[in-house]
Amino acid sequence: MLERYGHGGDLRTAEETFGFPARQFIDFSSNMNPLGPPEGVKRALVRYAEQIDRYPDPAVRELRTKLAKLHRVDEQSILIGNGAAELIDLVVRALRPAVTALAYPCFTEYGDAVMKTAGSISPVMLSAGNDFTLTPPMVEDMEATFYMLGSPNNPTGQLVDPKLIMKLVYGGATVVVDEAFMDFVPEEEKYTLLREAASHERLFVIRSMTKFYAVPGIRLGYMVGSPHKIAELRRLQVPWSVNSLAQQIGEAVLDEAEYAARTMNWLQEERPWLIGRLEALGFRVIPGKVNYLLVRLPDIPGLTAAGLQHEMGRMGILIRDASHFIGLDESYCRFAVKLRHQNEWLLEALERSLSKFREAAAR
Ligand SMILES: Cc1ncc(COP(=O)(O)O)c(C=O)c1O
Repeated sequence: MLERYGHGGDLRTAEETFGFPARQFIDFSSNMNPLGPPEGVKRALVRYAEQIDRYPDPAVRELRTKLAKLHRVDEQSILIGNGAAELIDLVVRALRPAVTALAYPCFTEYGDAVMKTAGSISPVMLSAGNDFTLTPPMVEDMEATFYMLGSPNNPTGQLVDPKLIMKLVYGGATVVVDEAFMDFVPEEEKYTLLREAASHERLFVIRSMTKFYAVPGIRLGYMVGSPHKIAELRRLQVPWSVNSLAQQIGEAVLDEAEYAARTMNWLQEERPWLIGRLEALGFRVIPGKVNYLLVRLPDIPGLTAAGLQHEMGRMGILIRDASHFIGLDESYCRFAVKLRHQNEWLLEALERSLSKFREAAAR
């Protein structure tokens, strides 16, 4: 099982499971920008060699200033973290909600963070019947004063209506919105609550910089909240949590406008193409908005997400067995959208694997 540590992109486990070196796998199980890191990252790495003997800026001032300008919010509203993962953990530790509402399936770290603080979870199950969309009646059923919601949600790729979230906030609840994949959404401005978070005491938005800029190894994310709440969270953060290389890479990638445009062009072209080809193979694709696709497997007796993952892994292609997400069963997988030639390999390997399962079923 590739999800041994709860995440996709675990090339070390893949190496142990399938016996090829990590670099030989094509990884559709984690959702990075397939264009690879932008050019500015290499330049930052070279410059960094001479600075490793200095402490990072504990207040991460330059990156905060740049992000504040980009999003048109106060610098005091931004907290930089060691990946969005640190900020998910930090906000739950700091606010210690007794009950947290989660809409399943969702990113596993939300529940893990709640468990670490011994809080309890008020779950709502999203439904395949409406493509896993969170609706107002479902939210009313959740009965909590603290909500943690992914928008776009992982693994479904669905966005949450910002009006629905603001209604919760105005109703007295605290809401943390994980927008880790929001940069990939063409209508980002319509869906993000980043600017609202800067002025509401009970709204927090978390962003990741590791996915869009393909730098998961350096760990970098940020949170936007009211200056007062952000100051409270900062006091609880580990000192120098964000190392100086991550800070400098963060500053560098924000200058990469051409890379960002290229990314959006690639996704607008490749996503519909891949969806069409997957549907032709018999997959049902959940119509999310981002750079990964949650799919329901074709109806073939004996075909399971784990079985398909194993077949694909033997061919050097890693996919996510989505049955490990609470609320999904063994008929769901998740694939990242990658470059055309890589997507073609994915499709070819899927076709071969499905044939195998069909032949076995016919025997
Ligand atoms: C929905 C979601 N939020 C947050 C994260 C963590 O991102 P980061 O790499 O910035 O810690 C992930 C990573 O997969 C994710 O899928």
